[in-house]
Amino acid sequence: MQLFHTLRELRAFLDSQTGKSVGFVPTMGNLHAGHCELVSQAKSRAGIVVVSIFVNPLQFGANEDFGSYPRTLQADCEQLRAVGADVVFAPAVEEMYPDFNGQDLRQQIIVQPPPMADVLCGASRPGHFAGVATVVTKLFHMVKPDFAVFGKKDYQQLMVIRTLVRQLNFGIEIVGVDTRREVSGLAMSSRNGYLTAEQKTQAAQLYAQLQQVRVALENGRRDYEALCKQAVLALQQEGWQVDYVEIRAQQDLSTPSASQTELVVLAAAKLGNTRLIDNCEVNL
Ligand code: PAF
Repeated sequence: MQLFHTLRELRAFLDSQTGKSVGFVPTMGNLHAGHCELVSQAKSRAGIVVVSIFVNPLQFGANEDFGSYPRTLQADCEQLRAVGADVVFAPAVEEMYPDFNGQDLRQQIIVQPPPMADVLCGASRPGHFAGVATVVTKLFHMVKPDFAVFGKKDYQQLMVIRTLVRQLNFGIEIVGVDTRREVSGLAMSSRNGYLTAEQKTQAAQLYAQLQQVRVALENGRRDYEALCKQAVLALQQEGWQVDYVEIRAQQDLSTPSASQTELVVLAAAKLGNTRLIDNCEVNL
């Protein structure tokens, strides 16, 4: 497995691999079994699998965890080697943002996603998806993959990236992979590492509530607002600070009509200081 920190090294290697298809898994590192699953999926269909590790300052709000986000490059590389990744690309901030002067990222060209990025997580994290769209655009230009793999846990992110690729004519296939879960149902996430053992047990409540909404929908309920309110109250009673529980259309995250059959239930809530997100697709 090759580890590169500069675009020049990355391109020199990839350009020498003529005729091989390139699969790409963008990450921020601090990898877990969910990321390994993305790499395995990429491996099963590509000649070369490139994994990027870059904690992107542009997608963190001023009061978020950019500074404390775990940087675990060595451990990440060990996991990636074991799962068969071919290339790890771990650029410095200056490599990713060439005009960055060490202070003011606002001097950068920003890729502005459509209004779909302003709801749900976008409403409580202004600028987050513009940061994601910008870094993913840069990474796509750098890696030039045939396809890229993203986890469905970040459902809104996946939708924003599908839209980005379509509207900016990237010609890259986007593969969405189901969320890996703990036995308790808790979605695997790098941020689970912030939870105490007790909180980690409690955190399974988020997915359990999504499941209750799913079952209610499958049983014919279409009073979306009431269903979501019920889930919010149940979580609040357990001590969660709930950002949202929402039922949306899978296709574009719009508010669904009662006759729509492909739905997704999405939630974001804080347990202590840790903000967790999760979702559950419902196909009626
Ligand atoms: O999902 C993530 O880890 C990040 O948002 C991504 C896609 C790597 C962009 O920084």
